[in-house]
Amino acid sequence: MSITVFGSVNLDFTVYVNSLPRAGETLHALRQISGLGGKGANQAVAATKLSTDKVRFVTALGKDAFADTIRAELSGYGVDMSDIKTFDDAASGNALIHVDKESQNTITVVGGANMAWADDGPDAAVFDGCKVAVFQFETPIKATLAAMQAAKQRGATVILDPAPVPDAPIDAVLAAADVVTPNETEAEALTGIRPVDKDSALRAAHALVAMGPSLAVIKMGANGLYYATKNGTVGYMLPFKVNAIDAVAAGDCFCGALAVALSEGMDTEAALRFASGAGALATTQYGAAASAPSRADLDTLVSQPA
Ligand code: RIB
Repeated sequence: MSITVFGSVNLDFTVYVNSLPRAGETLHALRQISGLGGKGANQAVAATKLSTDKVRFVTALGKDAFADTIRAELSGYGVDMSDIKTFDDAASGNALIHVDKESQNTITVVGGANMAWADDGPDAAVFDGCKVAVFQFETPIKATLAAMQAAKQRGATVILDPAPVPDAPIDAVLAAADVVTPNETEAEALTGIRPVDKDSALRAAHALVAMGPSLAVIKMGANGLYYATKNGTVGYMLPFKVNAIDAVAAGDCFCGALAVALSEGMDTEAALRFASGAGALATTQYGAAASAPSRADLDTLVSQPA
């Protein structure tokens, strides 16, 4: 059995600044890095580092110099590269990222090849033998839905990280998900409810469950997470206390780890603690894919008393 991620891969260009730039402002960067990113790639790297099972990464590149750099990075992280499609006429994806002193960020994605999938998505056979499949919205909605349905038809548990929330109806996509994992902004965009406390977070989670998924998790960063399930269970989880320096890809590492936890048969509470630990550890490192934790570090963190 395998974990399959269908999603984006980018080359990230990240600048660290004292404060995020305002309209019309020119800033000096404190430092700059570039490296592997894209929500799909970050999830795939996290799952690859955390799981002993096969992890498939179904993604797309253009035919350009960025593609060579991205392939080298994916290979360096041990990601299986058999399911990479090349769109000859597209540019490879990239992202422009600002991170401030409080580890807040802004991200602008240039989708390129990630957005070039046809409506029927990838070859459905990439989900053969898949136990848990992971999706986000840096690929076209129709292709993503087709891929989710292919995964579901093969009996996989379907995780949807609804980021970024598309400016289009996605009812059918939510209905095809078993697990949905928005942050506060995404939860508000999907439900109209801004999660600011227990009551509003659980109302948002219940609203999401009513749209189809059997588990809705509202990720609230330093404020922990709330979840609700179709069978009526609700819960809150405190965040792990870590020294956060860069929250980029923390949500992606959360999802990659959640896929691993569910593939290993952990129950909801244990799986969310494992995922939450991965997200927390990711904030202690600079970069996107580069921040995915090792299994040893994550096992050490989650073994600490709650
Ligand atoms: O979630 C972080 C990711 O969003 C970055 O790696 C960037 O590439 C964008 O996809």
